[in-house]
Amino acid sequence: MQSLSFVAVLSFACSAYATVASTSYALPTYAPTLLRNANAPFEAGTLNASLTTSSVTDLGNLSDPSTPYTMYRDGGGACLLNNELIWFFCDTEIRGYENEVTAFVSNTAAVAVNPDKTGHVYDINWSDTDGLSHIIPFTSEEALYANDSSSRYALWTYTNCVPTSGARAVHIWEIVKFDSETEYHTAGSTMVTYDLDQSTNVLTVTRDAQYLTTEDEYAFGAFSSIRAGDYVYLFALDHTYSSSKDVHLARAPLISVADTSTWEYYDASDSTWSDTKPEMTERRQSSAVISTSEKISSGNIVFSDYHDQYLLVFFNQYADNKARVLTAPSPVGPWTTDNTVMWTSESGSAYNYGILTLPANYDAGSQVGENLLVGFSYQTDDGAYPKISRLTF
Ligand SMILES: *[C@@H]1O[C@H](CO)[C@@H](O)[C@H](O)[C@H]1NC(C)=O
Ligand SMILES: *[C@@H]1O[C@H](CO)[C@@H](O)[C@H](O)[C@H]1NC(C)=O
Ligand SMILES: *[C@@H]1O[C@H](CO)[C@@H](O)[C@H](O)[C@H]1NC(C)=O
Ligand SMILES: *[C@@H]1O[C@H](CO)[C@@H](O)[C@H](O)[C@H]1NC(C)=O
Repeated sequence: MQSLSFVAVLSFACSAYATVASTSYALPTYAPTLLRNANAPFEAGTLNASLTTSSVTDLGNLSDPSTPYTMYRDGGGACLLNNELIWFFCDTEIRGYENEVTAFVSNTAAVAVNPDKTGHVYDINWSDTDGLSHIIPFTSEEALYANDSSSRYALWTYTNCVPTSGARAVHIWEIVKFDSETEYHTAGSTMVTYDLDQSTNVLTVTRDAQYLTTEDEYAFGAFSSIRAGDYVYLFALDHTYSSSKDVHLARAPLISVADTSTWEYYDASDSTWSDTKPEMTERRQSSAVISTSEKISSGNIVFSDYHDQYLLVFFNQYADNKARVLTAPSPVGPWTTDNTVMWTSESGSAYNYGILTLPANYDAGSQVGENLLVGFSYQTDDGAYPKISRLTF
């Protein structure tokens, strides 16, 4: 399985926008009751709780206990829609009896089915007869290469969606293009909309255009997206010029996040928002909302009601097991730069990667953030799979 690794951005000519694609999936009926997103204000108070965990519970594999196969996968991101927690993963493969790969797709999804057993999920869109299908629609250009492992496109996510209403969310994915079996480059990002029909429990996944941004632009929202008040804040990590240390910020009104003409871009050097999208042609450290001394390999931003702060929980190596944290009272900062180690996860045979923090709260009575759910890809000799732990502060 292809794990995360940094690959230099190579030049890649993007094709014209593809046609609109939309696919629907029936989810199992299930009504969890203890899940909710944090209630993020634009401006919070001061950090008022410890960032050191008081206990950690290993909640095990994120896997479907009712299926007989062995599944390995990377990632990914989560989405809390109508109280349903839906997980999105990157490269996913099923192995046969001889440990051979019997199915492989670049993204999959699963829905949490048991609040008492957080790791238990139901895999969406697989069947004994049809195997496994990817969840996010490919454009015709991408589909053309989907079965060629050395030139395929992949759609990957390592961040959460942003619910714009109870039943609708937007989610920004990275578009990756392989140059060989093991080398790939970021080709850009794409925006996907999820609609969960409350009466039928059907999830509709819609992709309007191939590219939201191309490889030579800041991929706003692909690193992290979060709603605060009436805005969505969209963070872009500059992998190209800042050694993955600078994070740039855009915002969009919640009601028009899909319309990029309504986006504004933040310049931290003078704390202003502008309609002009900054060009990614050099390191722009003074304009970055976050600029830290450790590189950020994966991570995302959540709001913790319990800490009354925004938290960026991240790994700083592609192979890592130390969850580090930066904090801020508002999406625009000021962000700390001290890279505090919050928790050291058990490493697999080699390493972990792809850390993801969930704002969802499974425990009645506690505030969002008093327990954080943290997922990561756990590498074993045979493959990687997502594990999840509950961190209690
Ligand atoms: C986790 O999933 C992997 C891959 O399917 C499997 O090999 C492993 O036994 C599972 N571990 C547990 C504790 O269920
Ligand atoms: C996945 O969903 C699509 C769209 O509903 C459907 O055509 C396909 O057969 C499904 N694949 C599997 C393996 O269930
Ligand atoms: C890729 O493989 C899938 C599954 O075998 C098949 O349905 C699809 O038609 C193939 N696509 C191309 C472009 O060959
Ligand atoms: C921190 O402040 C917030 C906002 O006032 C409050 O909701 C939360 O309970 C506080 N956390 C602790 C640990 O006291």
